[in-house]
Parts: sequence; structure tokens; C-alpha cells
Amino acid sequence: MKDPFNRSIDYLRISVTDRCNEKCLYCMPEGYKGWAQRSDHMSAEEILRTVRAAADLGFKKFRVTGGEPLLRKDIVEICRRIWEVPGVRTLGLSTNATFLAPLARDLKQAGVRSVNISLDAMDPAVYRRITGGGIESVFAGISAAFSAGFEVIKLNCVLIRNVNETEYLPLIRFAAEIGAPLRFIELMPLSRTDVLSEQNFLSIGELRRRLASHGEMRELPDYRPGNGPARYFSFEPSGARIGLIGALTAPHFCESCNKLRLTADGKLRPCLGRHGEIDLLGRLRTGEDPAAAIRMAIANKPEDHEFLQSYQPERPMTAIGG
Ligand code: 5AD
Ligand code: SF4
Repeated sequence: MKDPFNRSIDYLRISVTDRCNEKCLYCMPEGYKGWAQRSDHMSAEEILRTVRAAADLGFKKFRVTGGEPLLRKDIVEICRRIWEVPGVRTLGLSTNATFLAPLARDLKQAGVRSVNISLDAMDPAVYRRITGGGIESVFAGISAAFSAGFEVIKLNCVLIRNVNETEYLPLIRFAAEIGAPLRFIELMPLSRTDVLSEQNFLSIGELRRRLASHGEMRELPDYRPGNGPARYFSFEPSGARIGLIGALTAPHFCESCNKLRLTADGKLRPCLGRHGEIDLLGRLRTGEDPAAAIRMAIANKPEDHEFLQSYQPERPMTAIGG
């Protein structure tokens, strides 16, 4: 389906919970208790009805996210059932990987093709400062993901000035070593305003200038290991694959947007950086066809985000879906 700006929308990112065992600075506001209202979460059956409706409308790419999706007891079943829906071509999972080690094999078997893992630091103290948690289980999760044999495993690092600047080169080294693409993402204003001040923002442009003295970035225009908005480079001499996501500074960033987001409480978000939402779950629960809500969300997709126009988050990232 096309949106009003002639973009094809065929990618649905589904948040299956707003809970998380970590509390990343950029995602989870301090003291966040949104998940107190448990009954608002979509059931596996409701998620499946939505996926079927989306696939009927031509959606092909699906990603399960959170919060931390692996906290849901029925996560393997949800993935398996999404994968079985006719029309679903690819299924991804975004996770902090702390609980991935024991689940990786089952998730692969359930049909998950691609796994995106948050890794904002290599140093355990810096990792803890950002997430509040320990890094050991994450490394265990990453290695289990490789053993399970997912087709694509990507690492995500959010750029935070004064917090993880020391980590970029060690992360690149690690990415080269394990042969996983590493994406650097500009910090978006999606949680606590104090973390998202100008002092903490570090642009993709500045990252490139800093990396320039350590290696050469060769653009890989045809390399697309996922469905996201990253531009990929090979960082020579190690050959690390680096993806850059300039959500705030890249010109024309929104022109290639292909997605809708579904929050854990069943609201469709046409855009991460604008407030509009469409209540899909309310309609589902009164017996309406979810296709109408999906069509409406596509018709309401704005041309671009409002991050640079003093956007104030009202719903934190953990409650939207990363
Ligand atoms: N800015 C940029 N990226 C974010 N993510 C979550 N919150 C933000 C934010 N405020 C990304 C992280 C995480 C994924 C789920 O979403 O990279 O890995
Ligand atoms: Fe949890 Fe991921 Fe949000 Fe961090 S980014 S708090 S790991 S949901």
C-alpha cells in the first residue's frame, strides 16, 4: 500500500511488551511504570489477527520488538505463528539479548530470520551506566545467536556524547571480529529530556570525522542486510560493516520510510517522531476489522518527523517499540 507521499508501506514493527529488564537512558524514563496496566497488552491471538490483516494488505516484513520482547512467555509461539501467516516474507526480532542465550535455537526454529541486538558499549562499566545491567549475558546471547544460525545478526549502538564515545572503536573491532554489521544510531528524543539535551547528541557526521583518522569508510551502496534506514560502509582495513542511521541529521531521511509501528497496547503509530496514533486494539475488541485501522494509519503517515521542532515525547520509546 502507498501512503500520501507515494512511499510503499510494507513493514510492521510490533511491540509485544513495554516491559524491559534494563533501563537504557535513551529509552526508559526513570520510574516508568506504564506496564502496570497489564490487561492493555495485546494477546498473542490479537497480534496474529493484526498480522493476518496486514499481510492481506500487502505487508511483507515484520519485526517483533519491545520493551524487551523476550520477557513475554509466549514469545516463541508468537514468532512461530507470525511466520506461518501467508504473505509474511521476513521476520525479525529486536532484543537487548540478555535472555537470548536459552531461546536462540527455538526462535530460529520458529522462523526468526534476523536479530538486532542493542550493544552501546564494550566496557562493562559503560554498558551498566547506559542500561543499568550486566554485559556478560549479552555476550552469551550474541554467541548463542551465531550458533543458532540466524541469517542476519546486527548490532545497534546509540551515539551518546559524554557517555559512550570511548566505545565506538572497540565496538567496531568486535563487529569485525564476529562478522556482524554494526549500526550507529543518532540519539532521538524519546525518553528523558535530560538525557536528550544537545550536550549528549553526537551526529553521524561527527562520528565519521572522528573515525577518519582510524580508517577509511568505503560506501557499500548495494549492501542491505535489513529493512531499515541505515547507509552502509566498509571500514578499512578491518572490513567491519558499519551502518549509519542519521535519524536527525541525514537529509531526506524520511523519504524511504516503509513502516508502521504497533505499540504493545495496540495503537498504530504512523511515525516515531510525531504524536498521532490510531487505536487498533479498541477496534479489534469491538469486533471491527483491523484492516480499517491499518489503512487509516497509512493514510495518516506524515511526510517526516518532528524531532528537530522541539518534539516532546509523551510516550517513551519503551512503550512504542524500538
Ligand atoms: N534514540 C535512538 N535509538 C533508540 N533506540 C531506542 N531508543 C532510542 C533513542 N531514543 C534503539 C536502540 C535499540 C533499539 C530497540 O532502538 O538502538 O537497540
Ligand atoms: Fe530495554 Fe531496549 Fe529500551 Fe534499552 S532500548 S530500555 S534494552 S527496550
